[in-house]
Amino acid sequence: NDTPYAEYQKALAMGALINLDDISMIAYLEQHASLPERICARYNPGPLLQEGNAIIGKPEEAKYGMTREQIFEAFRILQAKGVRHFGLHTMVVSNELAVQGLIHTAKMMFELAADVQKHTGITVEFIDFGGGIGLPYRPEESFVSYDELSQGIRQHFETIMKPHGLGQVQLAFECGRAITGPYGYLVTTAIHHKHIWKEYIGVDACMANLMRPGMYGAYHHISVMGKEHLPKDHIYDISGSLCENCDKFAVDRALPEIEDGDILVIHDTGAHGHSMGFNYNGKLRSAELLLQKDGKVRQIRRAETLEDLFATLDFSAL
Ligand SMILES: Cc1ncc(COP(=O)(O)O)c(C=O)c1O
Repeated sequence: NDTPYAEYQKALAMGALINLDDISMIAYLEQHASLPERICARYNPGPLLQEGNAIIGKPEEAKYGMTREQIFEAFRILQAKGVRHFGLHTMVVSNELAVQGLIHTAKMMFELAADVQKHTGITVEFIDFGGGIGLPYRPEESFVSYDELSQGIRQHFETIMKPHGLGQVQLAFECGRAITGPYGYLVTTAIHHKHIWKEYIGVDACMANLMRPGMYGAYHHISVMGKEHLPKDHIYDISGSLCENCDKFAVDRALPEIEDGDILVIHDTGAHGHSMGFNYNGKLRSAELLLQKDGKVRQIRRAETLEDLFATLDFSAL
C-alpha cells in the first residue's frame, strides 16, 4: 500500500510476488521497474462486506485494495502488457475469532475469482486471504478451530470454484499473529504505586515495548508472578512512563494485590509487540530472550542503549 519504487525494485530483484494495492500502481511499476510475469491484486469489497471489525474497520473506509471493477480493468491491462499469471488478495478482518467471518472472506474471494473469469476470461491461479486469524487474548476465549475453518472453506470451494473449472487454485493465509502471538511475553517489574482518583501500578516497561493496549485498547492478560492463585481483589490501571495518557497495559483490571518489585508477565506479545516498538520520549527497547526447548534461556536481541538512540545523529555540523 503506497509502496515506494525502491521496494518494488527490491521485490522484483528477489523474485518476490508483487501484490498491487491500486490500479495506478501498474503505470508506476512500469515507470520505475518492470511488470513481472506473475502478479497479484488486492481487493477492497467496500460496502459489499457487512462484517468489518474493530481493528481494520469498514472496508469502504480502509485505504487498502481496489474495487471490483478496478480489479477487472487492472487484469485486462496487465494481460495486454504480457502478464501471464494472476492472483487475488484481500484482508478484511483482523484478529477474528469468529470462524464464520474468516470463511466469509474465502467465499467472497471465490466469487470474485469466478467473476474475474466471467468478465476477463482470466483464470486466477492463487488466492491469498490475508491474515486475520484471531488470538484468544482473554482467558475465556478459545483458538479458532482450523478444522472448522478448512471445512467451511472447502464447502465454498466445492460449490463456487470447482463448477467454474477453478479447482486448481492455490490458497494461502498470512497468519503471522496466530503463529507467533501466543509465544511471546513482556516481562516487567512494578516500580511505583499511585493512589489518586484511581489506583495505578507503574511498571518499568511502557508503550514503546507493546503498543496494542494504548493504540487500540487491546486486552492482554497479565499474571503477577507467584500470585497466580491469589484472589483478584484489587482494581488497577497498569501504566508506563511515557507522557501519553494511553500508555497503559491495563485499565480497571482485577489483579491480586501488587507490591513494588513484583514481576508482571503480560501475555501474548509475540506478535505486534517488540516489532511495533518505538523510541518516543527517548525510550529504549528491551532485550529479547528465547526460552529454548531444553529449558535454557538465550538472549537473541540485546537491549538498546543511549548510543543506539543517538547513532543516526550527525553532530559534526554543530
Ligand atoms: C496484508 C496483511 N497480511 C497479514 C497481516 C497480518 O495479519 P495477522 O494479524 O493475522 O498476523 C496484516 C496485518 O495487518 C496485513 O495487513
